[in-house]
Amino acid sequence: MGRLDKLPPYLFSAIDKAKAAALAAGVDVVDLGIGDPDRPTPQALVEVMAAAVADPAFHRYPAQRGMPRLRQAIAAWLGARHGVDIDPDTQTLILIGSKEGLGHLPTTCVEEGDNTLIPDLGYPVYGQSTLLAGGDPRTFRLKAENGFLPDFSELKQLADERTKMIFLNYPNNPTGATADRKFWQEMIAFCSERNIRLVNDAAYLEVIPGGKAALSLLNVANPSQDRVIELHSLSKMFNMTGWRIAFAAGHPELVGDLGRVKESMDSGVFSAVQETAAFALGDAFEDLLQEVMAVYPERRRIINQALEKMGVEVFPSPSTFYVWARVPGNESSIDFCGRALKEIGTVITPGLGFGSGGEGWFRISLTASDEAIAEGARRLGEWK
Ligand SMILES: Cc1ncc(COP(=O)(O)O)c(C=O)c1O
Repeated sequence: MGRLDKLPPYLFSAIDKAKAAALAAGVDVVDLGIGDPDRPTPQALVEVMAAAVADPAFHRYPAQRGMPRLRQAIAAWLGARHGVDIDPDTQTLILIGSKEGLGHLPTTCVEEGDNTLIPDLGYPVYGQSTLLAGGDPRTFRLKAENGFLPDFSELKQLADERTKMIFLNYPNNPTGATADRKFWQEMIAFCSERNIRLVNDAAYLEVIPGGKAALSLLNVANPSQDRVIELHSLSKMFNMTGWRIAFAAGHPELVGDLGRVKESMDSGVFSAVQETAAFALGDAFEDLLQEVMAVYPERRRIINQALEKMGVEVFPSPSTFYVWARVPGNESSIDFCGRALKEIGTVITPGLGFGSGGEGWFRISLTASDEAIAEGARRLGEWK
């Protein structure tokens, strides 16, 4: 079977189709499905970008591994905000969104017959990029009773001498679960004993109310020695999903290898976007972040209240901009979410879309407008 044939079907396209059909039939659809911020990028960043676009200095090919100014800003930001000491030249790399970095990471080390360990449930790219590199993604379960953290006894059974990489994602999409220091310490030890590269997808690290970030893997590891790499993204942090700007930081070998793969694939991110990112991670960072994150606590409260009315169990977490909740009764997540669209015109995401470990759960995204959140909550709360 060819590599493309091994890619699993994309469940979310079925949801998109059902939504399009409902809209075509005149249903007033409320979409609480997608995790893409409804609000614009902060005005201050748009202004920096507008000035940069007008400057011919930014019109040529960007520096291959990213603008030195941005990589220095990243190292300074990681130091000040996350207590991480890294060298901007050898330990940072600019990405065209963290999805691109995740997509290319297995190519750095996975050969035919090698495997990676990936979470079930999880963001689908880890498995797909492993397949495209010719490897075998082996899934481990994230269970509610373990706080959606992996079980080390399962990891021990799965890992062998051909395991090249473990992918994790904390704070976690879709569950909102977070990893603490003790967990990261155990994970780093587990990987270093077996010579496995440890990847944390940290796209949601800053998506938490109150301005205090979640714990970075790089804070716990020694990124000059431990073979770890963390992928950060400005997408969710600053409502910049369309801009395509993210970065990797970690062990020089892992970062360098990813840079080598990318040299054959792309020519970097538009320098004006990088200039804006450097500004965003500088002195203005905390104010900008507060502005972006301020909307989510109230939206979460409104949705949680509706789910409580329905008698639905919610996984308790303030992290990410998702609410992760249990499907009531014995209905499958697909049937339940299908009925939500049919009966109350509301799009919510079935847990199965994140892997079989997500069955029995559904996800609500808080990135719809305040009006849509209020209307969706009303419909859910009154749904019989
Ligand atoms: C868990 C997770 N990782 C990575 C990404 C990709 O983000 P981006 O490529 O915009 O940085 C997403 C996007 O939805 C995500 O949910």
